[in-house]
Amino acid sequence: MSALLGLRDVHTHIGPYHILHGVDLEVPEGEVTLLLGRNGAGKTTTLRTLMGLWRASQGQVLFAGEDITSRPTASIARLGIGYVPETMGIFSDLTVAENMTLAARSARRTKDIDSARLEWIFSLFPMLKTFWLHPAGLLSGGQKQMLAVARALIEPARLLVIDEPSKGLAPSMVARMIEAFQAVKETRTTLLLVEQNFHFARQLGDHVAVMDNGAIVFKGEMASLIDDSALQQRLLGLSLDAHQ
Ligand SMILES: Nc1ncnc2c1ncn2[C@@H]1O[C@H](COP(=O)(O)OP(=O)(O)OP(=O)(O)O)[C@@H](O)[C@H]1O
Ligand SMILES: [Mg+2]
Repeated sequence: MSALLGLRDVHTHIGPYHILHGVDLEVPEGEVTLLLGRNGAGKTTTLRTLMGLWRASQGQVLFAGEDITSRPTASIARLGIGYVPETMGIFSDLTVAENMTLAARSARRTKDIDSARLEWIFSLFPMLKTFWLHPAGLLSGGQKQMLAVARALIEPARLLVIDEPSKGLAPSMVARMIEAFQAVKETRTTLLLVEQNFHFARQLGDHVAVMDNGAIVFKGEMASLIDDSALQQRLLGLSLDAHQ
């Protein structure tokens, strides 16, 4: 099993605060890794650090065998890493079509977008087709989340890094999002997903890492965490009844 992305003993400070305390994480190629953990555990800080949005004060980030720890964010993205931040990063004043066109690096105009790829994305998120010419700001929170994921999918990426794809989604939309990620998973795209929702995470993850207080406190196969409710309770504070 080869890791496409690896973090080794990564420490991150934000201003005077020491947030990441030696994060070690491996993301195997062609598989789905879930990063879980309670609020404030350091999940978003880990993603921002690997994207170069925060600078590691110690340690290394490796992508495809290359040290990217000190690279600028734009250059990290150009290596083929698609990132959907917690804040989604969509443009409210622009239409869905314009948001997608901006995300498609190879397309200057909407009609230049690879049509087969766009049809595939419409099959994952049919509402994007319905609201194609509507300003993105008029979409619901869940629809915006789908647009944010769709933007990350429009160009083939070697690695997709997505911060809480299920956040703020109604249950019916969670099911749609899971189906969409299952379809992405079938293309053997390497995924690193941050989640709070274990119901979502368990259906997609091959591998899982759990963070607490700025460090990884558990790494393993998702199947082993699914089978061990005492471990879930200890790591995530979950009770089975709450997550049926
Ligand atoms: N800009 C910032 N300035 C100061 N502290 C910050 C900043 N961003 C995050 N932190 C702190 O760093 C810690 C980790 O935050 P982070 O956002 O990485 O957690 P998280 O696991 O993504 O949480 P959540 O599940 O709530 O999104 C928290 O204690 C948070 O308060
Ligand atoms: Mg977060």
